[in-house]
Amino acid sequence: MSKILVTGGTGYIGSHTVVELLEAGYDVVIIDNLSNSSRDVLNRIEKITGKRPAFFRTEMCNYDELEHVFIKHPDIDAVIHFAAVLQVFESVTEPLKYFENNLYSQINLMKCMRKFGIKPLVFSSSCTVYGNPETLPVTEATPIQKAASPYGNTKQMGEEIIEFTTKAGHINAISLRYFNPVGAHKSALIGEVQHGIPHHLIPYITETALGKREALNIFGSDYNTPDGTCVRDYIHVSDVARAHIKAVERLFKVNKEQGWYDVFNIGTGEGYSVLNMVNAFAEATGIKINYKLVPRRGGDVEAVYADTTKANEQLEWETVYTLPDMMRSAWVWEQSLKANPIK
Ligand SMILES: NC(=O)c1ccc[n+]([C@@H]2O[C@H](COP(=O)([O-])OP(=O)(O)OC[C@H]3O[C@@H](n4cnc5c(N)ncnc54)[C@H](O)[C@@H]3O)[C@@H](O)[C@H]2O)c1
Repeated sequence: MSKILVTGGTGYIGSHTVVELLEAGYDVVIIDNLSNSSRDVLNRIEKITGKRPAFFRTEMCNYDELEHVFIKHPDIDAVIHFAAVLQVFESVTEPLKYFENNLYSQINLMKCMRKFGIKPLVFSSSCTVYGNPETLPVTEATPIQKAASPYGNTKQMGEEIIEFTTKAGHINAISLRYFNPVGAHKSALIGEVQHGIPHHLIPYITETALGKREALNIFGSDYNTPDGTCVRDYIHVSDVARAHIKAVERLFKVNKEQGWYDVFNIGTGEGYSVLNMVNAFAEATGIKINYKLVPRRGGDVEAVYADTTKANEQLEWETVYTLPDMMRSAWVWEQSLKANPIK
């Protein structure tokens, strides 16, 4: 049984990936500093899978704390690195927090991997690396534009650090450029938890549906898109999670090679505007959302959606969840979170 280290494993995408890994028979070790997640997620993962992964509350920006995990688990076979701070808008006002957290943690992780001779790394990248792309859909060969936010820049730099390190032969890696992960696990035991006013669209919609928010603020209605609101490629989080299993399997196949690196888009290939999503939520759940059109906010790009051919063909990965599935699962999760809050 291969052992996978998952950083940020109690977070949103991390926890869904841990569930997929455990169900596929992998042994899992989780690292998280719990800055944006809770230990209770471990209970929920155990409830879903019947297995409890090893857990370390570790600050990855502290090299010694991180190395301690590798000393305890020198038999780690691969690493999936989710841990990061990720609020695009906040990163515009607090850039150093983003550069410090996302880059120090990644560099410390890669130093440990090199020291302990662990080669396969899957990195959580993002469609934000494309900035405001000139052509759509974006393929992995679409030129990277200047990042629209410090957060997006940490992902661009993260990828470059990985590319140079693979070229030096120290690790093998895959960067998965996720588009917009949404929805929740079918058990409704894990899902996206946002604190304060949600910075992601779907929790903002579901919290408004719940009556927790009076109205959804739609930032910008004067973009050059069919209805003036931003266009994104929304993908069910469990589809994103499964892509990591495929990526790990691919890296195991090339484990003997020196300096293997590749990048894959992880989306559905469909672009939906914010207003499309509000209507899709109403169609899937029967609930109409109050919304207000407000000025644009910093860091947002106009439109981005993926060409996923490369991941479909080379990782043999496909999405299985539809837009109504995404909406329904997000809504069931929001209600379940109210009835049974994460402790
Ligand atoms: N959610 C999205 O829309 C989205 C889109 C594209 C890419 N991503 C990337 O996917 C990854 C996971 O995102 P998510 O939505 O699951 O976020 P999340 O906040 O739910 O999970 C990230 C986890 O990392 C932990 N963490 C952060 N900094 C840490 C540190 N220094 N040391 C240890 N733990 C730390 C947090 O406590 C949290 O549990 C991130 O790298 C993010 O940039 C997310």
